[in-house]
Amino acid sequence: MSSHAITAPSSDKMMPLFFVLLLRLAGSPRDAAALTRDDYPKGFTFGAGTSAYQVEGAAAEDGRKPSIWDTFTHNGYARENSNGDIAADQYHHYKDDVKLMQELGLDAYRFSIAWARLIPDGRGKINPKGLEYYNNLINELLLHGIEPHVTIYHLDLPQSLQDEYDGLLSPRFVDDFTAYADACFQSFGDRVKHWVTLNEPNMEPLSGYSNGMMPPKRCSDPFCSYVNCTKGNSSTEPYIAAHHLLLAHASAVSLYRNKYNATQRGQIGITLMGIWYEPATSSSQDAAAARRMLEFHIGWFVHPLVYGDYPAVMRSRVGARLPDLTASQVRGSFDFIGITHYFATPVRDDEAALNLEQRDYYADAGLKEVFSPRALGKLLDHLKLKYGNPTIMIHENGLAERPKITSEIVYDDDIRSEYLQDYMDQIYLSIGNGSDVRGYFVWSFLDMFELVSGYSSRYGLCGVDMNAEERTRYVRNSGHWYSGFLKGGELRLALPSGKAYRTA
Ligand SMILES: *[C@@H]1O[C@H](CO)[C@@H](O)[C@H](O)[C@H]1NC(C)=O
Ligand SMILES: *[C@@H]1O[C@H](CO)[C@@H](O)[C@H](O)[C@H]1NC(C)=O
Ligand SMILES: *[C@@H]1O[C@H](CO)[C@@H](O)[C@H](O)[C@H]1NC(C)=O
Ligand SMILES: *[C@@H]1O[C@H](CO)[C@@H](O)[C@H](O)[C@H]1NC(C)=O
Repeated sequence: MSSHAITAPSSDKMMPLFFVLLLRLAGSPRDAAALTRDDYPKGFTFGAGTSAYQVEGAAAEDGRKPSIWDTFTHNGYARENSNGDIAADQYHHYKDDVKLMQELGLDAYRFSIAWARLIPDGRGKINPKGLEYYNNLINELLLHGIEPHVTIYHLDLPQSLQDEYDGLLSPRFVDDFTAYADACFQSFGDRVKHWVTLNEPNMEPLSGYSNGMMPPKRCSDPFCSYVNCTKGNSSTEPYIAAHHLLLAHASAVSLYRNKYNATQRGQIGITLMGIWYEPATSSSQDAAAARRMLEFHIGWFVHPLVYGDYPAVMRSRVGARLPDLTASQVRGSFDFIGITHYFATPVRDDEAALNLEQRDYYADAGLKEVFSPRALGKLLDHLKLKYGNPTIMIHENGLAERPKITSEIVYDDDIRSEYLQDYMDQIYLSIGNGSDVRGYFVWSFLDMFELVSGYSSRYGLCGVDMNAEERTRYVRNSGHWYSGFLKGGELRLALPSGKAYRTA
């Protein structure tokens, strides 16, 4: 089945054409007085985000060694042979960026630490220059009144660990990740109070080990899409990779709680990709297929974290290919669940797939899928009802623009402002209906290297002139709009219903 079901916007943002059209969730906007940020709960955090490989550049500077993303891009697998060698060059421009964040009025900045910059070999010695960079960035943020929300691992595994033991496929990943997280808590935890262990561990095993669209590009026929992988087993490896990610997350949380929380007093969670799966028709089969897909997608991680095991439907369908799990290893291992949300997918039942001799993740779930509009509110409702109303952070949400030429300077992105308002309104409504959402981060703070789609799509509230050596920043209309809202302005609710968002 198609790989595009899990081309994560956060992670690859490679939006297929049929998905650039995001239809507004049914129903016309309420006629109520416009919202301001004071209408959100006290302490609600509004921010914007990036990730290390996508924004930093300085890929071979000051002791940083390659991650699997450097290898992947340098082998020419990213769009238009692009890479993150320089990207937005935040490594050299972090001071300007923090100043810009302050001018816009962000409460918080979500970024990730590059494992191969802090611990270049994946384990062992800390790189003093890497340590200095993240200390500088964190201090600069705090000096300007901006909370750092830090992701420890955002898909950029050190290449050395991939080479040594096939990365996520080995239980040794759990130990190395825990030691790396320990170094992060120890080095930065006096100032960082919002930690995310992993970004989108419910996507990485699929793109990396099922369809092979992302590093380390493992997959097996007939499940590879677009690419020929030389190694892999799509029937087994995604479940093993996810299992080790889950154990690594729980191990880092346990370490944080036992060793650091008493003094550092922070919050720690995990960020999952949150696609909403909507039945494609009113048939009961499609309704059941959509429920199954939610179990495979969100339940894969949230069910173990809340209830101590994989969802029953995964146990029964995946069988012996799904690793054993002990509840005490994982249950309760989170203070919040982060969600990255861009779209919904209608689900069609395909139980026949279960009879296939060779099956992958989608065949196990028993469905065919296509793209279409989204439903963040329904996803939030699902999390509330099914998993005991966990605390939620919306860690990514945004709209891609596809410049005609990569270097095109675009200020006018009012369609993005409208998109953001629509989602922020939905979050307000969901909070009113009982969801415990505590924060919202626009993806992205500024243009950068989008995983797989390179520079051909961009999400920035702020643009970056990728042609200029100094990577000049400029604020788009959406950045001005968001800033106005953060400074007390109104969220307009005047969108006509049925409005379409076009990104190109
Ligand atoms: C995949 O491998 C086949 C057989 O080796 C080859 O013919 C084809 O061109 C390859 N496709 C890509 C996209 O590399
Ligand atoms: C994948 O692994 C399973 C279990 O070891 C095995 O039965 C199957 O043949 C493997 N598939 C491929 C394509 O290697
Ligand atoms: C860690 O400390 C924070 C702040 O006091 C608290 O909110 C959180 O619940 C603590 N977590 C654990 C697991 O003790
Ligand atoms: C509000 O929450 C209830 C359950 O708590 C749910 O049944 C209902 O559909 C939700 N309404 C909206 C508009 O999300």
